Amino acid sequence: MNDAWAALRARHSETRDRTILSLFDTAGRAEAFSAQTGDMLFDYAKTNIDAETRAALIDLLEAADVAGRRAAMFAGQPINETEGRAVLHTALRNLDGGPVLVDGQDVMPGVLETLERMRVFANHIRDSDITDVVNIGIGGSDLGPAMAVQALSPYHDGPRCHFVSNVDGAHIADTLRGLEAKTTLVIVASKTFTTIETMTNARTAKAWMQEEGGNPGTQFAALSTAADKTAAFGIPAERVFGFEDWVGGRYSVWGPIGLSLMIAIGPKGFDAFLRGGQAMDQHFRHADWAENLPALLALVGIWHAQVCGYESRAVLPYDQRLSQLPDYLQQLEMESNGKGVQMDGSAVTVSSGPVVWGAAGTNGQHAFYQLIHQGTRVVPCEFMVAAQGHEADLAHHHQLLIANCLAQSEALMRGRNLDVARDRMAEAGFTGDECERQARHRVFEGNRPSTTLIYPQLDPFTLGAIVALYEHRVFVEGVVLGINSFDQWGVELGKELATSLQPIVEGSEGAQDKDGSTAALVDFVHRHRG
Ligand code: F6P
Repeated sequence: MNDAWAALRARHSETRDRTILSLFDTAGRAEAFSAQTGDMLFDYAKTNIDAETRAALIDLLEAADVAGRRAAMFAGQPINETEGRAVLHTALRNLDGGPVLVDGQDVMPGVLETLERMRVFANHIRDSDITDVVNIGIGGSDLGPAMAVQALSPYHDGPRCHFVSNVDGAHIADTLRGLEAKTTLVIVASKTFTTIETMTNARTAKAWMQEEGGNPGTQFAALSTAADKTAAFGIPAERVFGFEDWVGGRYSVWGPIGLSLMIAIGPKGFDAFLRGGQAMDQHFRHADWAENLPALLALVGIWHAQVCGYESRAVLPYDQRLSQLPDYLQQLEMESNGKGVQMDGSAVTVSSGPVVWGAAGTNGQHAFYQLIHQGTRVVPCEFMVAAQGHEADLAHHHQLLIANCLAQSEALMRGRNLDVARDRMAEAGFTGDECERQARHRVFEGNRPSTTLIYPQLDPFTLGAIVALYEHRVFVEGVVLGINSFDQWGVELGKELATSLQPIVEGSEGAQDKDGSTAALVDFVHRHRG
């Protein structure tokens, strides 16, 4: 590994002073630095990666034995070593695949049986007088279905779906207000069925339903691995959809946690979503690294974060319906690869996964793009856009959307130099020092890298492929960094301290064991809560 990293650092030193734009002097740059699977094209030509750098990046994959780890994952080996679990969310979308073995047992019959139960239940709800579905969950039990339900709104033909995640009472109060309890289905989505936010919201929803004349006995469903706990909560087994511990929370939208999506778009639409994910799995397993979209996305990410030292990356979907994708990817990427310890317990030798953030274009252009274009930090940008929207009568909106997306990546790469800025200011009537001063504010350094993912239309199949693409990208990055991408010990300490702080905030225990700052903040709460 060390040699592969050293080669990349050397490559960075050799190439850092050239411009990305200059790479286009070589004919065929766009074709050579893009890859396609199905109808989906990933363009990374607007980065400073050339053939030699790409080869050095691929050496990193070989040195880390990504192919071996990939085979181990798909074969159901316990690659989540700190929890002793297999990682098999891919089995949930293995619709036409063969057996998938965990400890010698084929898990597919169970997967397909649960999927069929979900279909029957979803159809039953869609045919009933249920008008609204409230999914109560947090993290992976919320972000995936919430993002996908919004992304696929043109395909909705079922009840309205709402999502409650935050323990802040404002979230559930605002969501339930205006809903009719008698025609609402509440889905409690929690892998563990212990998460404090979800269980607090679930109890509040149950009380609301009882008070408002609904029937929690028939209008609650649960999505969980913990059958004993769902029973204790009072949800009958026929409305509990279970899954196994080899499905990580942030990888769980493909199974029962996706029930709200299935209810919204119907079982056929959900199947198409699964098939999109499965198609990406096949591509990931069989395409050469230089043509392999998840591997390329990972390599571009590694080049920017671990080699060039750029500390964040922006995800910029030019699609209003993907406005929750950055939130979803924050959990997927940062909960997976935001770790400082390698699988063997030693410290990670390069920086861990980058900060992932973003927003839908064009809104972001009017918020934070200023920093992306002229700030002192380089933020690699990941654009995505569909060739076609769903609003046929508003095609001109979509053309404008695409033009903006392409304009941003072009502007980031080209920039605008001082001479051009000076000419512009002179044309505007400025002269002398004032012309110079004004011109300097209008310089765009340029040479800022970006990638673009483009596809015909955001349909269920394509969304499935996009989500699986990012999942495998995270996997590849994790393997290269030596990280276990499938645990999340970093969320535990805060949870433990919140539990110990609850009685202190309530006032039944004193804050004497807390630090002075925490004690003073608790004291402020006590004095001001009325
Ligand atoms: O934030 C930690 C976490 O464990 C996530 O990994 C998970 O998606 C989320 O909490 C919710 O967990 P559960 O589905 O068990 O309620």
